[in-house]
Amino acid sequence: MARVFSGIRPTGQMHLGNFLGAVKNWVDLQNDYEVILSVVDWHACTTEYENLAKYSLRERSEQMAMELLAAGIDPDRSILFVQSDVPEHVELATLFGMFTPLPWLERVPTYKEQIQNLVGKDLLTYGFLGYPVLQAADILAYKATHVPVGEDQLPHLELCREIARRFNYLYGEVFPEPQALQTETTKLPGLDNRKMSKSYDNAINVTESEESTAKKVSTMITDPARVRRSDPGNPDVCTVFTYHKIFTPAARTKEIDAACRAATIGCVECKRELGVNLNMYLAEVRERHAEIAARPDRLREILGDGAERARRIASEVLAEAKAAIGIGK
Ligand code: TRP
Ligand code: SF4
Repeated sequence: MARVFSGIRPTGQMHLGNFLGAVKNWVDLQNDYEVILSVVDWHACTTEYENLAKYSLRERSEQMAMELLAAGIDPDRSILFVQSDVPEHVELATLFGMFTPLPWLERVPTYKEQIQNLVGKDLLTYGFLGYPVLQAADILAYKATHVPVGEDQLPHLELCREIARRFNYLYGEVFPEPQALQTETTKLPGLDNRKMSKSYDNAINVTESEESTAKKVSTMITDPARVRRSDPGNPDVCTVFTYHKIFTPAARTKEIDAACRAATIGCVECKRELGVNLNMYLAEVRERHAEIAARPDRLREILGDGAERARRIASEVLAEAKAAIGIGK
């Protein structure tokens, strides 16, 4: 079976945008692939190094792992672990760092962008420049054949492939070049129709309470031209309707479309209906989350087992790589 690797940074709570944009995809991939999923805490360190003393990184990683389990990652079929529990990743990254040319790293689009965008953060560090080298080590430590990537991660995957090629060229054929797995995902805007993001304060978290979800939905922006209840609306420009198209059955969505245009449904009512459907959609995830949150011992067991299974693979690959450069026993 082909092997998929993906990493997720433990940055706060999982919101609906993350869930629909990536996590749900990993859950579905479990049917057709061997899935290895890592909460990449070392990667979080590259951008959060100034705050680590009060960041509670371990807690955040465990929280992210719980949310992945709640979302449907099945620890019996897949391997779920915290990156720093498998030290082979950093060892392989050090090895790759020996032959990765600096210009390759400096030209990664996210590198310069992030340095400019994250104002107030000094990202001119060795660790941040090496972010994609560590990511390549994540993937290649398992000889993963596929990596599910959004567009933003394509340059990182390309660099990973270049690192594999250069290793093979210099020391002999060890690493397969992983393929991008571009699957259809759903883009969900935030409450204000901008990209959903924790930093915009426009997100709905998957583990949010039903009350809070309904309340947030009630603040969503609608068709700005529909001022009075008697004004006909245009669902095509309404964020609430974008959500209905995802969370409400198609036949009913069609009715809402017509009712909005005829002003026979009001926005308050329309949002209330969406809130109900959204809560229904998330009920299973929230139930599983409550179950796992009540059993921290079970979570540690899952992560311990995941790290052990991951290490079994990664230590063999690392040994092979070290033997190829003549450093291994
Ligand atoms: N860079 C990825 C992100 O920002 C996270 C990540 C780390 C990753 N290692 C990975 C993704 C390996 C895919 C494969 O989301
Ligand atoms: Fe949007 Fe619904 Fe109001 Fe129409 S009725 S503008 S779809 S919230």
